[in-house]
This record gives sequence, C-alpha cells and structure tokens, in this order.
Amino acid sequence: MRVIYFLIILLISLQTYSIYAQQNHPLAKLWGINDAEVPEWLDAENHLKKIDRILRPILAEDNLFSSFGGTFIDIFQNWLVVNTVDYSKVEELLALPEISPYNESLHFENVTDSIEQLKSSFRNITLLADSKGVRGALIYINMELNNIVIYFFETNINHTEFINAVEPFNPEIIYANTQSASQNIIRPRRRDVNSRDLVVNVFGGDGVYNEAGGGVMCSIGCWLKHQQHLRNDFYITTAGHCYDNGEIPDENYFYYTPWNSDSHVLPIGSIEFQSNGFYDFAIIRVENEDLNPQFVIRNDDADQYRELIIINGTINDTINDAIISSHYAHICKSGVITHLTCGYVLGFDGVFYGIEKNYIVFELIVTDLYGLLGDAGGSVFSFASPDNLLAVDVHGTVVTVGPGICAVQSLDTILDFMRDRIGIFQDLIVYVEGS
Ligand SMILES: *[C@@H]1O[C@H](CO)[C@@H](O)[C@H](O)[C@H]1NC(C)=O
Ligand SMILES: *[C@@H]1O[C@H](CO)[C@@H](O)[C@H](O)[C@H]1NC(C)=O
Ligand SMILES: *[C@@H]1O[C@H](CO)[C@@H](O)[C@H](O)[C@H]1NC(C)=O
Ligand SMILES: *[C@@H]1O[C@H](CO)[C@@H](O)[C@H](O)[C@H]1NC(C)=O
Ligand SMILES: *[C@@H]1O[C@H](CO)[C@@H](O)[C@H](O)[C@H]1NC(C)=O
Ligand SMILES: *[C@@H]1O[C@H](CO)[C@@H](O)[C@H](O)[C@H]1NC(C)=O
Repeated sequence: MRVIYFLIILLISLQTYSIYAQQNHPLAKLWGINDAEVPEWLDAENHLKKIDRILRPILAEDNLFSSFGGTFIDIFQNWLVVNTVDYSKVEELLALPEISPYNESLHFENVTDSIEQLKSSFRNITLLADSKGVRGALIYINMELNNIVIYFFETNINHTEFINAVEPFNPEIIYANTQSASQNIIRPRRRDVNSRDLVVNVFGGDGVYNEAGGGVMCSIGCWLKHQQHLRNDFYITTAGHCYDNGEIPDENYFYYTPWNSDSHVLPIGSIEFQSNGFYDFAIIRVENEDLNPQFVIRNDDADQYRELIIINGTINDTINDAIISSHYAHICKSGVITHLTCGYVLGFDGVFYGIEKNYIVFELIVTDLYGLLGDAGGSVFSFASPDNLLAVDVHGTVVTVGPGICAVQSLDTILDFMRDRIGIFQDLIVYVEGS
C-alpha cells in the first residue's frame, strides 16, 4: 500500500514537473526561470518597484541629494541597490519611518558620484554634444555604472573632437558592435494569413507601411481614443520618422503589414500628427472602418501568451503604479521585424542624436531590448500583474535600435504633448481593456 501511495505521489510530481518546468512566458525566458515561478518573481519585482517609488523622492530632497547616487533593481538578488556616496547617511535614511519597514530589501553600494553630480555631468555633456553637432549617438545616465553612457551607433562619423571635449567627465563610451547583433533572434514562424479573413485584428507590434521615400516599414505601438464619447475617432501610434515630409501627401498613407509577410494592401489611414524635432512619434488616424480597435499586443511566435492584454496606459506619475520608473525593471517590446523580446530598463530621459543633422530626440527610456530598424514604432510594455500573466501596461513606442540598445519614446511624452498642444486631443487616452 505504501509503495503504491509513493508511486502515485511520484507520478503526480513528475506530471507537475512536466507541466511547470517550461519556459513559455517572456519573463521566464528573460529571468531564466520556469513559467510557474513567474508570478512570484513578478510580485517580488513589483515590491522592489514600490520601495523604489517611496525612496526616490526622499533621495531627491536637499539634505540627501548629494549623498546618494540613485537606485536600481537587482531582481536576482531580490533587493534594491542604493548607490551611496556618503555612507554616514545610511543610518539616517533607514531610521525614516517610510523606509525602515523595507530595510531588508535595500542594499547599499559605495559609489563616487551622487545624483547631483551625474545630472550636472549629463547636462554638460549634452551641451557639448549640441555645440559639436554630434550625430549618431545616444546619451543617458546609467545608475548601475554610476556614470554617463555615450553610445555611438555604427557610422563613419568622426567623433574625436567630441570625445576629447567630454574627457574631463570620464563618461563610459560604448561603440555599437555589430558582431553581437545576432543574439537571441527568435526564428519567426510563418503565420497563415488567410486572405478570406474579413476581420483583421490590428495589434500592437504589427507592421505599418507607407510608400514615402521608396517605402518605409515600421511597427504599431498602441491604439488611442478620446475619453469623451463625443468623438468616435481611433488612432494608432508609430514612430515619427516613419512619416516622410515629402511633397506628395498620398505617399504618406499607411497600410497594414502582418508578421512574416510583405503584404501591404490593407489601408489603415493617413497621418494625423507627426512630431517634428524634440520627439519622435506619429499618430495615424484609423480611417478604414473594417478595422476593430484593439487593446492587444502580438506575441504569435509563442505557443502560449500569444495575445497580451493592455490594461493600463494612463499617465500620472504621482498616482499611477503603472508608470515605469525603476532602473533595471523588466521591459518588453513587440515589433514587426524581431517580434517579441524582453530586456531591462537602462535609463530614463536619454537624448538621441540622429544621423541626420538637427534630428535630436528627448525624454527617451533607454533599454537593452533587442530589435532592428523596422521595429521602430513598436509597442513597449511591461507585465502588470502576478495574477494575470497576460496583462500588460504600455509605456511607449520604439524610436531607435542598435546592438544592445533600444530607445523608447515614453507614452507620457506622447500623450502630454498631444493633450497640451492640440486642442481636440485634450482627452486622448490609450485604448485599454474596459475603456
Ligand atoms: C531591519 O529592521 C528590523 C526592525 O527594526 C531589525 O530587527 C533588523 O535587524 C533590520 N535589518 C537590517 C538588515 O538592518
Ligand atoms: C561602504 O563603505 C562603508 C564605509 O566606508 C563600509 O562600512 C561599507 O562596508 C562599504 N559597503 C560596501 C558594500 O562595500
Ligand atoms: C558643468 O558646468 C557647470 C557650468 O559650466 C559647472 O559649474 C559644473 O561644475 C559642471 N559640472 C561638472 C560635473 O563638471
Ligand atoms: C578625426 O578628427 C580629428 C580632428 O577632429 C583628426 O585629427 C583625425 O585625424 C580624424 N580621424 C579620422 C579617422 O579621420
Ligand atoms: C496627477 O495626480 C495628482 C494627484 O491626484 C494631481 O494633483 C495631478 O493634477 C495629476 N496630474 C495630471 C497631469 O493629471
Ligand atoms: C491603472 O492604474 C491606475 C492608477 O494606478 C489604477 O487605479 C487602475 O486600477 C489601473 N487599472 C487597471 C486596469 O489595472
């Protein structure tokens, strides 16, 4: 009897093992864990993000500003690293009633530069970049390195003068290494595009095409709508540089392109708005009435978690937990070329100097997401809840990619800009589940 009992237990546990020891969820792949462990890890990450949200404003106060050098999440150690310049302030910090409950989750690391110094260096380096007319570079503050990173995209531009000028700041200079570009490429699986399908679901991560400048392929971020129901219009976001300022307006009409396909016959609509300088995003007005608005991000290469549901895209730093603001939090993207990939947030408020002169983009979320050129415009998001592994918060659209780097225009920037400056868009929101 006991033997049978034991065998049954063994069989059950083997079965459980075969079900759970799988890596289907994008976060299981990113963190190198099993699907079954994702909720617990996501919960742990959310906890660290929450502590970070409490801690950050305190570290920004005048009396601590020059004593600490920023924070970042270390999900593998399950702690929040607090870069520390003046170790004598640690005790003072831990004694604060808001902070003391979390003392076990904080890890103090000694560094040389405070946030104050980093911000000042960043400002001075970007001023130099402006004055030297730097092109093909991304500049941001990296908390883990406790330094400014200048990332040069692969170009034939001679940066010697700029590099000499920034030498006093001793930044971390990284050159795009095209050798490393082939990492983690997911083999695309061909999707059967049934031409008789009348209903076409246009999801975040799908392709948009326009013929401007000989044809440009980009990706879709998310759908937008008006909060007031007086206007029924829907819009789709993509990257600003996917739109060409050419003379022939018709060339800027956008068509839909599914994954693993060259087809671009299904019309979407024409440009509604395109940022010109400072930011890089475009809003397409959806004119084809056969297209149903969607709050879904595509992940068709996977066997599970193929359709991710956008539950939050609201913007308000002060009240919204869905805002991404922690360094080394996970982040993912879906785009028409390299499909769904996940990585980490490397920095905020980055500045991108394009290859063309005077093309400078601000307020970028810098990530190490893998992508290629046509992924520009694609959805950038994070998983929202341990209780629902399909639920995501959207954060922005891809602006530019290079080996090991991907810059993202944040949704805050896009919605703030549209609401402030363009009258009829005052009530523009992301189309999310239930809205
Ligand atoms: C955290 O605080 C608790 C209660 O005040 C204390 O018992 C514990 O030793 C502290 N842990 C660390 C790592 O400081
Ligand atoms: C940082 O420096 C302080 C004082 O100099 C020291 O007590 C502490 O152990 C150091 N921390 C680490 C992680 O090295
Ligand atoms: C940046 O430039 C300002 C003004 O020129 C100067 O006061 C400041 O010390 C510089 N910052 C750093 C980190 O060198
Ligand atoms: C790059 O420019 C510097 C001066 O700004 C010059 O001395 C150097 O020879 C140039 N390098 C190349 C490879 O052209
Ligand atoms: C964000 O929320 C705070 C607190 O409710 C409010 O005071 C502020 O006006 C809101 N900001 C925006 C941009 O809606
Ligand atoms: C979206 O974020 C807001 C603010 O944090 C929160 O109140 C709301 O519940 C979230 N919505 C969903 C569907 O999670």
